[in-house]
Amino acid sequence: MTKVLMVCLGNICRSPLAEGILKSKLYSSQTIVDSAGTAAYHQGEKPDVRSIAIAKKNGIDISKQKAKKFLVQDFDEFDYIYVMDNSNYKDVLKLARNEVDKSKVKLILNEIFPDDNLDVPDPYYGGDFGFKKVYEMLDDACSIIVKKNKLQ
Ligand code: 4NP
Repeated sequence: MTKVLMVCLGNICRSPLAEGILKSKLYSSQTIVDSAGTAAYHQGEKPDVRSIAIAKKNGIDISKQKAKKFLVQDFDEFDYIYVMDNSNYKDVLKLARNEVDKSKVKLILNEIFPDDNLDVPDPYYGGDFGFKKVYEMLDDACSIIVKKNKLQ
């Protein structure tokens, strides 16, 4: 069993998409995928309508997800913690208790562009085009994550 957590700020735009996209590439119950936000602003809410729409356009239903906050216990629960941007990275690392916790946290776009430390741009204040770009980036990154970690 492998557990993967996708993390962004609000857990309503980027990480719900990352969760849905990664799940769509897996064909067994050997991998559990979840998502969380470093902030609790949107706790309990569904993903942003624009994330739901771009996922639906690609055949993925993320409408049943509910936003929740990243908790320190998540370091124990998950094997891989993929964060969307450098600010999420800082916020999650602040909660790390030891080197094992820290080693689980990775910037998701480093899977495509190793060591470039690029951000998945926050599309919250932008238009639909931002969501399409985010979808494409996350789709590429998740394909690599599946292969590299031999997820099924
Ligand atoms: P996310 O986007 O981190 O991709 O879910 C955001 C959602 C909400 C806010 C910021 C970013 N907000 O400030 O409410």
